[in-house]
Amino acid sequence: MHERLEFAIQLAFESGKIQKKHFEKTLSIGYKGEINLVTNVDLECENRIIELVRQHYPDDEIISEEKTNLFETGKNRWIIDPLDGTTNYAHGYPFFCTSIGYEEDGIVTVGVTYNPISDELFWAGKGQGSFFNGSRIAASTVNEIRQALLVTGFPYDVATNPRNNLNHWAAFIMRAQALRRDGSAGLNLSYVAAGRFDGFWELGLSPWDMAAGALIVREAGGIVTSLTGEEFSLYRGGIVASNGRIHQEMLSVIREGL
Ligand code: IPD
Ligand code: CA
Ligand code: CA
Repeated sequence: MHERLEFAIQLAFESGKIQKKHFEKTLSIGYKGEINLVTNVDLECENRIIELVRQHYPDDEIISEEKTNLFETGKNRWIIDPLDGTTNYAHGYPFFCTSIGYEEDGIVTVGVTYNPISDELFWAGKGQGSFFNGSRIAASTVNEIRQALLVTGFPYDVATNPRNNLNHWAAFIMRAQALRRDGSAGLNLSYVAAGRFDGFWELGLSPWDMAAGALIVREAGGIVTSLTGEEFSLYRGGIVASNGRIHQEMLSVIREGL
């Protein structure tokens, strides 16, 4: 196993311990926007992860949600969402994770997501496949959207941004077997990899929401592209991830609303 993959798993467990300790307890909550929260737990997890990365790999760069200014191009970097699903966390809804990716020369080679409440660990190493709690996973074999369970999310500026995804939601809900919105892009992608969901799309995400999950989907045999079907980039916001079989159909539904 890639040395940094083992390390990333340790980081996710360490962060998960903090999340579990404070879950359903009183939190101190700040607002990055009207509905965009940050809690003391986001910050405590982030500080702990950054401290450990700095100790073990002082030359690696770090991009992390609450401290985005650590970004520098051209180096190998950790891409970290210390708590993906903060709104869920703040409401005691047990669907959130720590999401950790490692990018080398522009390619993500390590991805880990961990939900400490269900004790579910997803990980992938480039070329090594995807795993869920130690067992290999594969994307689903559903062939049509009519039989598919799809998932998405909405941006925090949903009330003011005209590209708020409601048009795509409306288009998919008429065609899919069912849709879900449950508030953690990292887990949504991991679930596509595990075949629990058949597809996921979202607009306006950040690299830390997708770095780990996109690799986990690909290594499970799924496909990840931009919203228009072009090569996926962590840094352009839009994503469509699927089992591969329904990908073209998903893209054509999305195209209707673009
Ligand atoms: C959010 C979650 C959510 C997605 C939002 C993200 P956060 O991350 O992944 O599912 O719809 O776009 O910002 O803020 O909880 O880390
Ligand atoms: Ca996130
Ligand atoms: Ca977060």
